[in-house]
Amino acid sequence: MRIAIVSTPEEIARLAADRIEEVYRSKPDFVLGLATGSSPICLYDELVRRYEAGEISFAKVRSYNLDEYVGLPKDHFEGYMNFIRRHLVGRVDMPEGAAHGPDGWCEDLDEGARLYDEAIKAEGGIDIQVLGIGSDGHIGFNEPGGSLTSRTHVGVLTEQTRRDNARFFDGDIDAVPTHCVTQGIGTIMDSKAHVFMATGKGKARAVKEMIEGGVSQRWPATALQYHDDVLVLLDEDAASELELKDFYKEVWEKERA
Ligand code: F6R
Repeated sequence: MRIAIVSTPEEIARLAADRIEEVYRSKPDFVLGLATGSSPICLYDELVRRYEAGEISFAKVRSYNLDEYVGLPKDHFEGYMNFIRRHLVGRVDMPEGAAHGPDGWCEDLDEGARLYDEAIKAEGGIDIQVLGIGSDGHIGFNEPGGSLTSRTHVGVLTEQTRRDNARFFDGDIDAVPTHCVTQGIGTIMDSKAHVFMATGKGKARAVKEMIEGGVSQRWPATALQYHDDVLVLLDEDAASELELKDFYKEVWEKERA
């Protein structure tokens, strides 16, 4: 992992956008994996800014979301495809039909999940995946206890995740779906590169486990320790429990010097 600990969300957004732009420069028709939630919003705003400035184009990009709730009406404001349209794909030059997400509405959700995984493979895989992390260590919606080689599947959300996400549902945990369809850890690990973003004290324990803990199903994000292209972008609060924080800062500065 390459680890950057910086002071502002704006700096995280800039570094994340730089990494995505790097992929775009070498492959303008790249496949982009997208996360929802609050962490990547500043990145999406920065990508839109660069698009408007003529620095990046999404005209040849296909995007694949990490996950989707099961049980929300398709037009629900907090549905993840709607989130992605609102924050990124509806604001750039991505053609209609180029943005994809797991199907949380089909009759056979397992089959829908399998087809989603196949669709990603048929693209030749995701070139760069945007990731956030749940306070319980999930990436995508891969909650603790799930297989570290899973493919896209239907999952159950922990109470912790539903409590965390209640802020998007007027604070009402009962309004947060109990189920989801998510790319599996195996699917995520197939992505050629990752840009990971976390801010705030609430993520500090999960970030510590992800970087310095033993690889285990208890903290699903630890699987990323086996990926050789992960850019981890943290603010001081999210990095606050890291034992080797000063060393990571030194490495980052020396590598960029
Ligand atoms: C969202 C996703 C989740 C979030 C995580 C953090 O598509 O896959 O893993 O990245 O729940 O959410 P925020 O950024 O809202 O704290």
